[in-house]
Amino acid sequence: MIVAVTGTPGVGKTTLSKIISDDFKLKYIDFEGFLIENKLYIEYDESSGSYVIDIDRARDYFNSFSFEDAVLDGHNIILIYPCERIDYIILLRCSPYVLYDRMKRKGYADNKIIENIQAEILDIIASDVYGNCEVRKVMEVDVSEGVDRKYTLIKKFLKGGFPEGYRERVDWLSLVADKGDLNRFMRPL
Ligand SMILES: Nc1ncnc2c1ncn2[C@@H]1O[C@H](COP(=O)(O)OP(=O)(O)O)[C@@H](O)[C@H]1O
Ligand SMILES: [Mg+2]
Repeated sequence: MIVAVTGTPGVGKTTLSKIISDDFKLKYIDFEGFLIENKLYIEYDESSGSYVIDIDRARDYFNSFSFEDAVLDGHNIILIYPCERIDYIILLRCSPYVLYDRMKRKGYADNKIIENIQAEILDIIASDVYGNCEVRKVMEVDVSEGVDRKYTLIKKFLKGGFPEGYRERVDWLSLVADKGDLNRFMRPL
């Protein structure tokens, strides 16, 4: 079984992936780490302190390599790893306000925080998921109040005992607009 846990940086992917890995006895794969180990990047970007993944080469790599019995943890799995080879996709969502506080506490630079929050508000990863994968494989879950609170639900989905294509609708753009915070979060970087 292959489970992909995806979403904007900071939403709780690693926390959830490790819980699933333990519970279902699946190998834990840090997807971006795997790409870097296999040199599937263009360069190391000093300014952001991260590797720029070579999406085309990474896609090609998986023409001749597949994971088996694993939880994949990453924000760009769906752009790279074939959805046909994923059994379940958990798409985590998190309120911009919660994300902001978490990343601030972790000491991220303000622009990095805002960049990630904008991606979450604009459904960037969600669009990748719904544009590339069968909806029946996807469970979209709002984990703003923590992954633990939703684990019973997620576990049920992974055991096939939950309506396919379950989706908790989030609308961060309306939330932020209603609170009068569009200027705070949607400013140019
Ligand atoms: N329920 C929670 N309450 C508070 N902080 C949390 C909770 N779940 C995760 N975190 C924290 O949020 C941060 C992001 O979680 P992580 O699982 O690393 O997300 P991702 O892998 O998506 O970047 C971590 O610092 C983690 O400790
Ligand atoms: Mg992580």
